This record gives sequence, C-alpha cells and structure tokens, in this order.
Amino acid sequence: MNYNIAVIKGDGIGPEIIKEATLVLDKIGQVYKHEFRFTEVLAGGSAIDKKGECLPKETIDVCKGSDAVLLGAVGGPKWDNLPGEERPEKALLNLRKELGLYANLRPAILFEELKKACPLKEDLIKNGIDIMVVRELTGGIYFGERGRRDKNMGEEAFDVELYSIKEVRRIAKKAFEAANKRNKKVTSVDKANVLESSRLWRKVVEEVSKDYPDITLEHMYVDNASMQLIKNPNQFDVILTTNMFGDILSDEASMITGSIGMLPSASLGKGNIGMYEPIHGSAPDIKGENKANPIATILSAAMMLRHSFSLEKEAKAIEKAVKKVLTKNFRTLDIIQDDNKVVGTDNMGKLIIEEIN
Ligand code: IPM
Ligand code: MG
Repeated sequence: MNYNIAVIKGDGIGPEIIKEATLVLDKIGQVYKHEFRFTEVLAGGSAIDKKGECLPKETIDVCKGSDAVLLGAVGGPKWDNLPGEERPEKALLNLRKELGLYANLRPAILFEELKKACPLKEDLIKNGIDIMVVRELTGGIYFGERGRRDKNMGEEAFDVELYSIKEVRRIAKKAFEAANKRNKKVTSVDKANVLESSRLWRKVVEEVSKDYPDITLEHMYVDNASMQLIKNPNQFDVILTTNMFGDILSDEASMITGSIGMLPSASLGKGNIGMYEPIHGSAPDIKGENKANPIATILSAAMMLRHSFSLEKEAKAIEKAVKKVLTKNFRTLDIIQDDNKVVGTDNMGKLIIEEIN
C-alpha cells in the first residue's frame, strides 16, 4: 500500500528527531512492502522565518490531503516575544483545530529497562506504569475567548474555559473505548468542586459511562490526581481530562516513566487522519548537537501505523525494536544511567532500524 504523510520538522531538535523517524518508516516500508511518501511542509518558527506566518495555508492544505501528519516540535526563544496569535505554538493549535483532532492519546509506559531512570521509589513501580492519558484537544481554555480589557483594577486579561456537551461526549467515548482495550478503568479528572465547566463535564461523562457497563468510572479532582500520579501511579488505567489539565498531567506522567524524551502521542478525530508527535518540546538548548532522544518521535510513527493505517504488525515491530535497543543498554543522554552506552540521536535511530527485519 501507499501512504501519504505530511511531515513538519518544526524547530529546535525537530529536524533531527523527525529524520530518524522517517528513516525508521522507510525501513518498515522495505521490510513490509509499503510505500510511505513524505511531503515536507512548514509550520511554527521556521514557517515564520521563511513564509512570514506560523501556519501557511499550503501547510493546512497538504496536511488535509494526506493520510497522516508527522510533527517534530515547534517554538523557541527566538519567537517568544511575538504576540500570542503569531507565535509558533499557534500553528500547532490551529492545525489540531483545522484537522478536527479532538482526541489526544498520550500513553505513559515505564519500560522495564528504564526503571532506574524513574524518580519514584522502587516499591511504587514494582508492577510497572502503564497509563493512557486521553486529553481533549480542540476545546477548553486553549480555544475559549481571550483578551485584555480595562476595568477598575486597571488592565486585566482573561481566557475562558468552555466545554459543550457534544465536545465532552465525544472525548469521553474515546476514553471508554481506549479503556475497553486495556484494563477497563477510566479516571475522569476535573475540578468540579470549583468550575462549572467541570460540573457539566462530570455529568456528561457519567451519562456516557452508562453505555460501557464493563468499565469502572472514577472521578478525581485535578489537584488530587497530580498527587496520586506520584503516590500510586498503578491505580490509573485511562485518564480522561480536559485540554489544559491533560497538558499538565501528561508531562507529569511522562516524567515518572523516566524521561519526557520517550513519550509519543496521537491526535485523532472522526476519520483516519491523525497527527503524530512526541509530547516533548523543541528543546532549543540542545538543537543541532545530536543529543536529542528520537524515541518519542519514532514511537509516534508506530502510533501512526496503528491508528491511521491499521498496520498493527508494523507498529509492534517498531516498538519491539525500541525495546531491544534499550535492553542492549544503549541510551541517549536524557535516559543515561551508570552502566549504559551513550549514543547520539542519529545512532539511536540507526540501532533501532537495525533491529527491524
Ligand atoms: C503539548 C504542548 C503544546 C500544548 C504547546 C506547544 C502549545 O505543550 O503538545 O503538550 O500545550 O498543547
Ligand atoms: Mg504540553
């Protein structure tokens, strides 16, 4: 089969990690007889520099016409002083919205080989960590009305958190469906003791849960959830939450798996098209130094094979290859421990490719 993939390298370490992920896909193509056609398009800081805007229309069109989008990371200090609407991050948000990608799946798995890199005490992680964060991605405070105004206290700014029943229902369904294939538990995280939007969220999630009688539903306030993630991560299976809380909790979940450099993500909507990206940022401080961990991006490519192309065997082949390389003790700097062999971004990619056959 042929698959068309729009590729956005982005900023900072983006180009380095994307290169390794596309090479991995090339290898999968050779071994399993598929053709992955990559079309590179610009978004984020590099698009601002070359095209004068963070998300050129051409990029949106190419992405919409592709089977999937692979993205590195956007942003960096160079563009930090631009107005909010022009920042590189806005490209990412608008792309999610334009493609209707309302469901963000962020699996946080602690690899056996990385247990020592986990900052939690050994007895807390003896049964491993395997959490799927299902983050709402096109609503909430990220997309609500925002602005500045003058009031009696002087200038003030506001960002509105807003959720419709329809938005909550569709993301809740995704979470219950994910739990169905996993350990059959959904923890819905909100702040219903304070926020009206959370109270609606909770009510709708309750309603949706009636269609999934086999799945245990639990509600948790976000402050408690952030504590429980560290206290007893094993209690979680699927965490269902809003855009903002999901952004924060997924970074926390990634840290307890050893490194944010390990975690992939899939952003999905109604159809098969999805956007796949590591959950980490563009790490401008190590840009071009061949230090970045490409594994999160490579695992994102595996998620693409699984969710957009239904190529489960091929996805597993990538995941197995990553595990093998870790078992052989090769590590990028972010996950290094005493007796490991340090490799750069390019060699980590190469080692993974060698394990696919
Ligand atoms: C993420 C990132 C983005 C987000 C930023 C870069 C806009 O932190 O994907 O988690 O907040 O969604
Ligand atoms: Mg984030």
